[in-house]
Amino acid sequence: MDVITVNDKQEMSEKASAILFNELKRNPDLVLGVATGGTPAGTYNKLVEKVLAANLDLSEITTVNLDEYVGLARDHEESYWHYIYTHLYEPLNLSPDRALVPYGLSDDLQAECTKYEEAIQKVGGVDLQILGVGRNGHIGFNEPGTPFKSKTHVVELTDSTRQANARFFGHKEEVPTQAITVGISTIMESRSILLLASGKEKAEAVKALLSGAVDQKWPVTVLNQHPSVTLVVTKDALETEEDSYNDQ
Ligand code: GLP
Repeated sequence: MDVITVNDKQEMSEKASAILFNELKRNPDLVLGVATGGTPAGTYNKLVEKVLAANLDLSEITTVNLDEYVGLARDHEESYWHYIYTHLYEPLNLSPDRALVPYGLSDDLQAECTKYEEAIQKVGGVDLQILGVGRNGHIGFNEPGTPFKSKTHVVELTDSTRQANARFFGHKEEVPTQAITVGISTIMESRSILLLASGKEKAEAVKALLSGAVDQKWPVTVLNQHPSVTLVVTKDALETEEDSYNDQ
Protein backbone atom coordinates (compact mmCIF):
# COMPACT_ATOMS: atom_id res chain seq x y z
CA MET A 1 0.00 0.00 0.00
CA ASP A 2 1.23 3.48 -0.84
CA VAL A 3 0.63 5.87 2.04
CA ILE A 4 0.61 9.61 1.36
CA THR A 5 0.45 11.67 4.54
CA VAL A 6 -0.89 15.20 4.25
CA ASN A 7 -1.34 18.04 6.73
CA ASP A 8 -5.05 18.60 6.38
CA LYS A 9 -8.21 17.85 4.46
CA GLN A 10 -7.53 20.55 1.89
CA GLU A 11 -4.18 19.02 1.02
CA MET A 12 -5.84 15.59 0.90
CA SER A 13 -8.38 16.88 -1.63
CA GLU A 14 -5.62 18.47 -3.68
CA LYS A 15 -3.52 15.28 -3.78
CA ALA A 16 -6.44 12.95 -4.42
CA SER A 17 -7.90 15.14 -7.17
CA ALA A 18 -4.49 15.28 -8.88
CA ILE A 19 -4.28 11.47 -8.84
CA LEU A 20 -7.79 11.20 -10.27
CA PHE A 21 -7.21 13.86 -12.88
CA ASN A 22 -4.11 12.06 -14.18
CA GLU A 23 -5.96 8.75 -14.36
CA LEU A 24 -8.85 10.34 -16.23
CA LYS A 25 -6.47 11.99 -18.67
CA ARG A 26 -4.78 8.66 -19.36
CA ASN A 27 -8.02 6.72 -19.65
CA PRO A 28 -10.98 8.72 -21.01
CA ASP A 29 -13.36 5.78 -20.61
CA LEU A 30 -12.39 5.02 -17.04
CA VAL A 31 -14.89 3.19 -14.85
CA LEU A 32 -14.67 5.19 -11.65
CA GLY A 33 -16.06 3.81 -8.41
CA VAL A 34 -17.31 6.73 -6.37
CA ALA A 35 -17.69 7.07 -2.62
CA THR A 36 -19.92 9.67 -1.06
CA GLY A 37 -19.96 11.30 2.38
CA GLY A 38 -18.02 14.25 3.73
CA THR A 39 -14.51 12.99 3.01
CA PRO A 40 -14.39 13.01 -0.81
CA ALA A 41 -16.53 16.16 -1.35
CA GLY A 42 -13.52 18.49 -1.56
CA THR A 43 -11.76 16.04 -3.86
CA TYR A 44 -14.68 16.13 -6.30
CA ASN A 45 -14.78 19.94 -6.16
CA LYS A 46 -11.08 20.21 -6.96
CA LEU A 47 -11.33 17.57 -9.65
CA VAL A 48 -14.11 19.54 -11.32
CA GLU A 49 -11.90 22.67 -11.25
CA LYS A 50 -9.03 20.79 -12.88
CA VAL A 51 -11.21 19.14 -15.53
CA LEU A 52 -12.85 22.44 -16.46
CA ALA A 53 -9.52 24.30 -16.54
CA ALA A 54 -8.01 21.65 -18.85
CA ASN A 55 -11.20 21.30 -20.88
CA LEU A 56 -10.95 17.52 -20.44
CA ASP A 57 -13.80 15.57 -22.01
CA LEU A 58 -15.29 13.13 -19.49
CA SER A 59 -18.34 12.18 -21.51
CA GLU A 60 -17.08 8.60 -21.93
CA ILE A 61 -16.45 7.80 -18.28
CA THR A 62 -18.78 5.65 -16.20
CA THR A 63 -19.26 6.15 -12.48
CA VAL A 64 -20.32 3.38 -10.14
CA ASN A 65 -21.69 4.49 -6.78
CA LEU A 66 -20.68 2.41 -3.81
CA ASP A 67 -23.99 2.62 -2.05
CA GLU A 68 -27.42 4.21 -1.74
CA TYR A 69 -29.94 4.64 1.05
CA VAL A 70 -33.10 2.55 0.91
CA GLY A 71 -36.25 4.63 0.81
CA LEU A 72 -34.91 7.90 -0.60
CA ALA A 73 -35.99 9.15 -4.00
CA ARG A 74 -33.18 10.13 -6.35
CA ASP A 75 -34.03 13.80 -6.05
CA HIS A 76 -33.90 13.68 -2.24
CA GLU A 77 -31.05 16.00 -1.24
CA GLU A 78 -29.35 13.30 0.82
CA SER A 79 -29.64 10.48 -1.69
CA TYR A 80 -26.29 9.39 -3.04
CA TRP A 81 -27.65 9.72 -6.58
CA HIS A 82 -28.21 13.39 -5.81
CA TYR A 83 -24.75 13.64 -4.23
CA ILE A 84 -22.88 12.37 -7.26
CA TYR A 85 -25.09 14.36 -9.61
CA THR A 86 -24.43 17.63 -7.80
CA HIS A 87 -20.72 16.96 -7.14
CA LEU A 88 -19.73 15.72 -10.59
CA TYR A 89 -22.34 15.56 -13.33
CA GLU A 90 -24.00 18.92 -12.86
CA PRO A 91 -20.83 21.07 -12.55
CA LEU A 92 -19.26 19.21 -15.48
CA ASN A 93 -22.41 19.59 -17.51
CA LEU A 94 -22.53 15.83 -18.17
CA SER A 95 -25.61 13.75 -18.69
CA PRO A 96 -25.96 11.23 -15.82
CA ASP A 97 -26.72 8.40 -18.29
CA ARG A 98 -23.51 6.65 -17.31
CA ALA A 99 -23.96 7.07 -13.56
CA LEU A 100 -24.67 3.70 -11.97
CA VAL A 101 -26.36 4.04 -8.59
CA PRO A 102 -28.37 1.34 -6.79
CA TYR A 103 -32.08 2.16 -6.85
CA GLY A 104 -33.12 2.59 -3.24
CA LEU A 105 -36.84 2.73 -4.01
CA SER A 106 -36.96 -0.63 -5.75
CA ASP A 107 -39.83 -2.81 -4.58
CA ASP A 108 -37.55 -5.84 -4.93
CA LEU A 109 -34.33 -4.92 -3.21
CA GLN A 110 -32.76 -8.35 -3.65
CA ALA A 111 -33.34 -8.23 -7.39
CA GLU A 112 -31.92 -4.70 -7.44
CA CYS A 113 -28.70 -5.96 -5.78
CA THR A 114 -28.32 -8.73 -8.37
CA LYS A 115 -29.04 -6.27 -11.16
CA TYR A 116 -26.46 -3.83 -9.82
CA GLU A 117 -23.78 -6.49 -9.59
CA GLU A 118 -24.54 -7.45 -13.22
CA ALA A 119 -24.41 -3.81 -14.31
CA ILE A 120 -20.90 -3.48 -12.84
CA GLN A 121 -19.77 -6.59 -14.72
CA LYS A 122 -21.36 -5.28 -17.90
CA VAL A 123 -19.24 -2.11 -17.84
CA GLY A 124 -16.14 -4.28 -17.33
CA GLY A 125 -15.70 -3.78 -13.58
CA VAL A 126 -14.31 -0.80 -11.72
CA ASP A 127 -10.91 0.52 -12.79
CA LEU A 128 -10.35 2.92 -9.93
CA GLN A 129 -12.39 2.84 -6.73
CA ILE A 130 -12.45 5.92 -4.49
CA LEU A 131 -13.16 4.93 -0.90
CA GLY A 132 -13.78 6.70 2.37
CA VAL A 133 -13.88 4.87 5.67
CA GLY A 134 -16.45 4.99 8.45
CA ARG A 135 -15.43 5.55 12.08
CA ASN A 136 -16.10 1.89 12.74
CA GLY A 137 -14.02 0.86 9.73
CA HIS A 138 -16.91 0.39 7.31
CA ILE A 139 -16.27 0.72 3.57
CA GLY A 140 -19.25 1.52 1.41
CA PHE A 141 -21.90 0.54 3.96
CA ASN A 142 -20.24 -2.78 4.76
CA GLU A 143 -20.52 -2.67 8.50
CA PRO A 144 -18.20 -4.59 10.87
CA GLY A 145 -18.68 -8.34 10.58
CA THR A 146 -19.71 -8.28 6.90
CA PRO A 147 -18.26 -11.38 5.22
CA PHE A 148 -15.38 -10.52 2.92
CA LYS A 149 -16.95 -12.60 0.15
CA SER A 150 -20.08 -10.40 0.10
CA LYS A 151 -21.49 -9.01 -3.14
CA THR A 152 -23.94 -6.12 -3.47
CA HIS A 153 -26.49 -6.49 -0.67
CA VAL A 154 -28.97 -4.75 1.60
CA VAL A 155 -27.66 -3.66 5.01
CA GLU A 156 -29.19 -2.55 8.27
CA LEU A 157 -27.22 0.54 9.22
CA THR A 158 -25.65 0.48 12.66
CA ASP A 159 -26.62 3.04 15.24
CA SER A 160 -23.15 4.58 15.10
CA THR A 161 -23.32 5.01 11.32
CA ARG A 162 -26.76 6.62 11.52
CA GLN A 163 -25.46 8.86 14.29
CA ALA A 164 -22.41 9.81 12.19
CA ASN A 165 -24.61 10.66 9.20
CA ALA A 166 -27.20 12.55 11.25
CA ARG A 167 -25.22 15.73 10.49
CA PHE A 168 -26.42 15.57 6.89
CA PHE A 169 -30.07 14.94 7.77
CA GLY A 170 -30.45 17.21 10.79
CA HIS A 171 -31.52 14.37 13.10
CA LYS A 172 -30.59 10.71 13.49
CA GLU A 173 -34.22 9.61 13.18
CA GLU A 174 -34.26 11.04 9.65
CA VAL A 175 -31.36 8.83 8.54
CA PRO A 176 -32.68 5.76 6.71
CA THR A 177 -32.24 2.47 8.55
CA GLN A 178 -31.21 0.49 5.49
CA ALA A 179 -28.98 0.89 2.47
CA ILE A 180 -27.84 -1.04 -0.57
CA THR A 181 -24.08 -1.37 -0.69
CA VAL A 182 -21.62 -2.88 -3.08
CA GLY A 183 -20.09 -5.85 -1.27
CA ILE A 184 -16.57 -6.25 0.02
CA SER A 185 -15.62 -8.77 -2.66
CA THR A 186 -17.01 -6.39 -5.31
CA ILE A 187 -14.79 -3.63 -3.91
CA MET A 188 -11.81 -5.99 -3.89
CA GLU A 189 -12.35 -6.70 -7.61
CA SER A 190 -11.60 -3.05 -8.46
CA ARG A 191 -8.31 -2.81 -10.27
CA SER A 192 -7.02 -0.06 -8.00
CA ILE A 193 -8.23 1.76 -4.92
CA LEU A 194 -7.79 5.31 -3.69
CA LEU A 195 -8.64 5.42 0.01
CA LEU A 196 -9.14 8.76 1.74
CA ALA A 197 -9.15 9.30 5.49
CA SER A 198 -9.28 12.58 7.31
CA GLY A 199 -10.02 13.62 10.87
CA LYS A 200 -9.18 12.13 14.26
CA GLU A 201 -12.46 10.24 14.38
CA LYS A 202 -11.07 7.95 11.67
CA ALA A 203 -7.83 7.22 13.55
CA GLU A 204 -8.93 3.88 15.07
CA ALA A 205 -9.93 2.54 11.66
CA VAL A 206 -6.72 3.79 10.03
CA LYS A 207 -4.68 2.25 12.84
CA ALA A 208 -6.38 -1.11 12.32
CA LEU A 209 -5.59 -0.92 8.60
CA LEU A 210 -1.98 0.09 9.05
CA SER A 211 -1.41 -2.63 11.65
CA GLY A 212 -1.40 -4.96 8.64
CA ALA A 213 -4.02 -7.23 10.19
CA VAL A 214 -7.00 -8.50 8.19
CA ASP A 215 -10.02 -8.63 10.48
CA GLN A 216 -13.76 -8.78 9.68
CA LYS A 217 -14.41 -6.55 12.70
CA TRP A 218 -12.67 -3.74 10.76
CA PRO A 219 -13.89 -4.06 7.15
CA VAL A 220 -11.28 -1.58 5.88
CA THR A 221 -8.50 -4.01 6.83
CA VAL A 222 -9.47 -6.25 3.90
CA LEU A 223 -7.59 -3.71 1.77
CA ASN A 224 -4.38 -5.19 3.15
CA GLN A 225 -5.07 -8.04 0.72
CA HIS A 226 -5.50 -5.77 -2.31
CA PRO A 227 -2.50 -5.38 -4.65
CA SER A 228 -3.00 -1.71 -5.55
CA VAL A 229 -4.12 0.67 -2.81
CA THR A 230 -3.13 4.30 -2.30
CA LEU A 231 -4.09 5.81 1.04
CA VAL A 232 -4.16 9.60 1.33
CA VAL A 233 -4.40 10.33 5.04
CA THR A 234 -4.29 13.49 7.14
CA LYS A 235 -1.94 13.65 10.10
CA ASP A 236 -4.75 13.75 12.64
CA ALA A 237 -6.21 10.53 11.22
CA LEU A 238 -2.94 8.84 12.07
CA GLU A 239 -3.09 9.62 15.76
CA THR A 240 -5.60 7.82 17.99
CA GLU A 241 -6.59 9.31 21.37
CA GLU A 242 -4.53 6.60 23.02
CA ASP A 243 -1.46 7.62 20.98
CA SER A 244 -1.85 11.29 21.89
CA TYR A 245 -2.35 10.37 25.56
CA ASN A 246 0.86 8.31 25.49
CA ASP A 247 2.75 11.22 23.92
CA GLN A 248 1.96 13.54 26.86
C1 GLP B 1 -20.70 6.91 4.64
C2 GLP B 1 -20.66 6.24 3.25
C3 GLP B 1 -19.30 5.69 2.94
C4 GLP B 1 -18.30 6.69 3.47
C5 GLP B 1 -18.30 6.66 4.98
C6 GLP B 1 -17.54 7.79 5.62
O1 GLP B 1 -21.82 6.71 5.35
N1 GLP B 1 -21.65 5.25 3.02
O2 GLP B 1 -19.19 5.44 1.57
O3 GLP B 1 -17.02 6.39 3.01
O4 GLP B 1 -19.62 6.55 5.46
O5 GLP B 1 -18.25 8.99 5.55
P1 GLP B 1 -17.62 10.41 5.78
O6 GLP B 1 -16.66 10.65 4.68
O7 GLP B 1 -18.78 11.37 5.74
O8 GLP B 1 -16.95 10.38 7.11
